[in-house]
Amino acid sequence: MNKVRSMAVAVALAVSGLGMASQAQNSGRVTAADDKPLPIKADHPGRTTFERQCAPCHAAGPGDDGARMLPGTATLAARYQGRLPGALELRTDLGPEALLYFVRNGTGGMPSFRKSELSDADIAAIAGYLKATAEANGRR
Ligand code: HEC
Repeated sequence: MNKVRSMAVAVALAVSGLGMASQAQNSGRVTAADDKPLPIKADHPGRTTFERQCAPCHAAGPGDDGARMLPGTATLAARYQGRLPGALELRTDLGPEALLYFVRNGTGGMPSFRKSELSDADIAAIAGYLKATAEANGRR
C-alpha cells in the first residue's frame, strides 16, 4: 500500500469509528436508564396519584418492590428509540389534554381509566407532576 492510500484508509477508519461512537451515545440517551431510578422526583400534588395508578407500568426504574416489569416504559422506549424517553416522568411533551386523551381512551396495552377511578383534576395533576419532574431532571 502506498503512503497516500494508507492515509486514506486511516481516515476512513477514523470516520467510521466516529460514526459508531455517536451511535452508541444515541442509544445510551434513551435513559432506558429506565433501568435506573430517577434522581429527582418533583414534590408535586400529582405525584401520589402517578405513583399509585401509572408507575406500575410507567416508572423510570424498578418499582419499590424491585419489579422490573414496566410494560409502559419498555413499549415507549422501544417505540421512540431515543427520540423521546421511555419514562413518562422525563417527557415534556405531554400536556393535560394529551394525557386526558390517553388516560380516558387507553392505547395499545394500556387500559382506559373511568372518571370514577381518576377525575379530570387527578389527570391534570399528573400532567403537572410529569412536567415538574422532567424539568427537575434538566429536561425542557
Ligand atoms: C397496565 C399498565 C399501564 C398502566 C397502569 C398505565 N399505562 Fe400508560 N401505557 C401503557 C402501555 C403498555 C403503553 C404503550 C401502549 C402502546 O401504544 O402500545 C402506554 C402508553 C401511554 C401513553 C402514550 C404515550 C405515547 O407517547 O404514545 C400515555 C400518555 C400514558 N400511557 C399515560 C399513562 C398514565 C398517565 C397512566 C396513569 C393514570 C398510565 N398511563 C397507566 C401501560 C400502562
